[in-house]
Amino acid sequence: MQNEIINILKKEEKFSDTTIEEIREVEINDFADIIKEVGQQETDHLKRDKILNDLDTNKIGKEIYIFNEVMSTNTVAKFLAENDVESGSVILSEKQSNAKGRLGKHWESPLGGIWLSLILNPKVDHSKIPMITLATGVVVIKTLERIGITNAEIKWPNDVFINGKKVCGILTEAITKFNVIDKVIVGVGIDANFEVNELSEELQEGTTTLDIELGHRVDENEVIRIFLEEFEKMGQIFEAGEFEVILKDWRKYSYSIGKIVEVIEPFSKSYDAYVLGISREGALVVEKIDGTLEKVISGECRLKN
Ligand code: BTN
Repeated sequence: MQNEIINILKKEEKFSDTTIEEIREVEINDFADIIKEVGQQETDHLKRDKILNDLDTNKIGKEIYIFNEVMSTNTVAKFLAENDVESGSVILSEKQSNAKGRLGKHWESPLGGIWLSLILNPKVDHSKIPMITLATGVVVIKTLERIGITNAEIKWPNDVFINGKKVCGILTEAITKFNVIDKVIVGVGIDANFEVNELSEELQEGTTTLDIELGHRVDENEVIRIFLEEFEKMGQIFEAGEFEVILKDWRKYSYSIGKIVEVIEPFSKSYDAYVLGISREGALVVEKIDGTLEKVISGECRLKN
C-alpha cells in the first residue's frame, strides 16, 4: 500500500520528492486523511457533481473519491476501508497502472475506461462472496440496458460480453478479521471510450467497448451514476436474502448455460463439459463427457468452438 500512496501523491503532484521520501518512514495509516483529501478533487473525465446530482440512492455512492491515476482502485479501496471510510463509498480513477484481474491476472486500464471500486460492509460469511460477484454482473447488465445496450450477457462467473467480446470484468475481494468478513471490495472495470488498439495485442480481438457497441462515446459519469443506482437496488435484494431473484436474473443473462466449455480450475487438469446451470451458491454446474456432474466453484470456462 505504501507504493500506492507514494504513486498517488507523485501523480497528483501534491508533494515534493523530498517530502515523499520522508513519507516512506511514516506509518501508512497516517496517510489516510491525505488520500481522502486528494480524492475530493475532480479530473478531466470524472465529475463528482455529474454523478451525484441525479443519483437516486440512499447508501451507495454517497462518498466518492476521485483520482487521476492509481495502481489499482481495489488497493485504494482496501486502504480506505481500513481507515474509517463508510460502506457504500466509491473509488474512481481515470487510469490504473497496476490493476488486478481475476486469477492473479493483470487488467489493462487506459484513459476512457470506467475503473471503480465499491467498499461494502455486508453482514455475510465467506459462502456468500460468489453471490456478490454474480449479483454485480447482473448490475452491469442492467446498467448497460439503461444506456441502450440490450444484448449483453454474463460469462461465468462474472465477465460481461457483448456480441461475443468482453466489455467488463469484476473482481471481488474480501477483507477478513479473525477469519470473519469485515469488508468487501467490489472492483468493476468497464471498457467505455477507448480504442481497443490501446490494449496489448492479445486482448484486442476479444475486447469491445461501449463506444464501439453504441456507435458513439458514452458519458462515463452517467454510466457510473446508473451503475450505482442499480447496485443499490441489487443490494436491497441481497440484504433481503432473495438470492433466487439474483440467480434467476443471472440465468436469464447467461452466456455460458447450454454451451460446451473447457473448465479450467486452479491446480487441476482442465476438462471439457456441458454447462447445465448455476447452483444456489453460485457454482457452475456442468456435465462432464463421461456423464458425471461437477460443481465448479472457482476458475474459468472457455467456450469451445
Ligand atoms: C477480470 O475480469 O479479470 C476482473 C477485472 C477487474 C478490473 C477492475 S478495474 C477496477 C478494479 N481495480 C482493479 O485493480 N481491478 C478492478
